[in-house]
Amino acid sequence: MSEDKRASFGGKLSVVLVAAGSAIGLGALWRFPYIAGKHGGAAFLIVFLLSIFVVGIPAMLAEFAVGRKSRKNAVGAFRQLSKKWSWLGYNGVLGALLITGFYYIVAGWSLEYLVNSATGLLYSSPVSFTEQFAAFQASWRPAFYAVVFILLTHIIVARGVEKGIEKASRIMMPALFVILIIMAVRVAFMPNSIEGYRFFLSPNFKEAFTSETIMMAIGQAFFSLSVGMGCMVTYASYFKKNNNLVSTSLNVSLLTLLVSLLAGLVIFPAVFSAGLQPAEGPSLIFITLPEIFKAMPLASLWSTVFFLLVMLASLTSTISFHEVLTAYFAEEFKLSRKWGARITSAISVLLSLLTVYCVFDFDFLGVKATGVSFMDVFDYVSANILMPLGAMFTCIFVAWVMERNFMRDEITNYGSLKSYVMPVVVFMLRYVTPLLILYIFFKNLGIL
Ligand code: PFF
Repeated sequence: MSEDKRASFGGKLSVVLVAAGSAIGLGALWRFPYIAGKHGGAAFLIVFLLSIFVVGIPAMLAEFAVGRKSRKNAVGAFRQLSKKWSWLGYNGVLGALLITGFYYIVAGWSLEYLVNSATGLLYSSPVSFTEQFAAFQASWRPAFYAVVFILLTHIIVARGVEKGIEKASRIMMPALFVILIIMAVRVAFMPNSIEGYRFFLSPNFKEAFTSETIMMAIGQAFFSLSVGMGCMVTYASYFKKNNNLVSTSLNVSLLTLLVSLLAGLVIFPAVFSAGLQPAEGPSLIFITLPEIFKAMPLASLWSTVFFLLVMLASLTSTISFHEVLTAYFAEEFKLSRKWGARITSAISVLLSLLTVYCVFDFDFLGVKATGVSFMDVFDYVSANILMPLGAMFTCIFVAWVMERNFMRDEITNYGSLKSYVMPVVVFMLRYVTPLLILYIFFKNLGIL
């Protein structure tokens, strides 16, 4: 595609909506509550908040700068700026593949819950929500719905960035806020909900600052902000030259944070009210949230609207990592967008089926486990290894490898914007963010 013919996102609001559409999804609504539930609730929340500001936002800005400057897919972008650094783009492509391997499956779960809410099945069944979830897992439907989700994503991506992606984000985001707020208010009146607020909002500082909690929180920040694997590079390649990168990154991050907070304020009171465990794991929202709806009049209707929104939020995220791969295949192999999207979707189906149907035994460096699912491996490797390392090297790249003025020029749009935070951002990118990621990384490997 020639420079001027390359698509771009519309006005200021659209850019924020589209990038927030990528960021807000299962990360905030599904992964955040279950990981926070496993790592002490409030303790996790504090470290997560810090991670967003200390590592998430600077790394997002670095990705925006690389993408907008080069106007290329993740691999092409790094290569254009420095031939020696194109491997960093491949790190992104690999990360997108791993996320592809499990995200569609969980997104498919939300489709099952949408259908079962709309038909009333979820609330008329005599068995508990925990048992319903287990029965669903043992059926053919997780694979089926994952494939349906891939098809939905394919249709939107194949239509192109302006029409498909922008439209989907514009409608879904405000609706998501409204329903989360209604649910947060409703859950406050459920018996014993106070225990949930205590768990989520009253921290035990000792528990908070362990290297494992910090690593999980940093991983969650990257996953949730879609940073560290070329996604924001790819999206920023469609930004206009006059977009304010700092305010865009702040808006996107604050919106993501808000949805995560709201999700916590809905889930944890409900967990304690229903006598369930916050450390339940990946099934947490699928067995807890129906408990809230069951206690409300018109349970099926509320539940349908909610799972519809989870599905739409997931869709604006699946579109974004599909786009990382579609842009990569199309531009790097000189294919049409359609073929780039087709190849991506075919790989997505294969990876999803692998995850649904295969488990393996693990025996490496003295760590042994049997019956490991690809879902856990893909999730762990992408959020806790590839994304932090990708983000760390992107910070090093923009702050040390590119010429000195690179970030200043991108942040101020070549002098046309005043930016008081610029020196802070540059300092963070040079020292704080990469060193912190490196430190936590080594600490967790037991090297420090
Ligand atoms: N940020 C998305 C979410 O929280 O659901 C997931 C995601 C999308 C991660 C795109 C990475 C990515 F490149």
